[in-house]
Amino acid sequence: MARKVIVAGNWKMNKTASEGVALVRALKPLVADVTAAEVVVCPPFTTIGAVVEACRNSNVKVGAQNIHWAESGAFTGEISGTMLKEAGVEYVIIGHSERRQYFGETDATVNARLMAALKAGLKPIVCIGETLEERESGRTEAVLETQLKDGLKGLDAATAATLVLAYEPVWAIGTGKTATPEMAQETHAFIRRTFAMLFGADAAAKARIQYGGSMKADNAEALVGQSDIDGGLIGGAALKADSFADLVKNAVKGAGGCGCCCCGR
Ligand code: PGA
Repeated sequence: MARKVIVAGNWKMNKTASEGVALVRALKPLVADVTAAEVVVCPPFTTIGAVVEACRNSNVKVGAQNIHWAESGAFTGEISGTMLKEAGVEYVIIGHSERRQYFGETDATVNARLMAALKAGLKPIVCIGETLEERESGRTEAVLETQLKDGLKGLDAATAATLVLAYEPVWAIGTGKTATPEMAQETHAFIRRTFAMLFGADAAAKARIQYGGSMKADNAEALVGQSDIDGGLIGGAALKADSFADLVKNAVKGAGGCGCCCCGR
């Protein structure tokens, strides 16, 4: 069954509100005709409001980069699902490897944030991925399986089917080292098989799995051309409108769409 391509730009800690607005103003006309892929930008919290405004009446959707598990309360520095929802956010990235690496994120906190996102009516993009050391010691599959089992604990099959996962090998993030399309496909296929074991074949056929880690305009077509790769979570290449738009169009081409400037298919 056809899964719609989803390409999300993770701006990380880049772009003030005015810079973010300038980026989406440049991006909107470049992707205005794209109907074969969902296009999402994920700005930092303080930039979200202005970007939501700037994306109104366009096909560019807005996501956040994190969410707290509580609805409100004494959690200095955190942001709740209700706050994101009211700000006009549709997607939320959960468990990015930088959060796991620098901010103590674990599969248990990923799971708590995931439940909060679903409760708030936000669409989660749950990140998983192995480090270089884990890959080199042959533990990739065991690591991913644990991240899936524990991070997605308690989901029912119908909800699991709506999920977006992002497989991001940590060694490929921001390093310029991309997994080859074949290597990425092999791991995506493993993720889908594990997902099927956890939530059934139907949910696994419907859930979308993005690849992330040095995806650029020039490798997007080959990556998304793989049968289990349904789009990308993009860091560096999402910070400029033209490179991001080219990447989106090449991803559409990879999925068998036209990818030209004009017809949107
Ligand atoms: P990158 O980042 O595209 O700059 O490698 C991807 C990510 O961290 O989501």
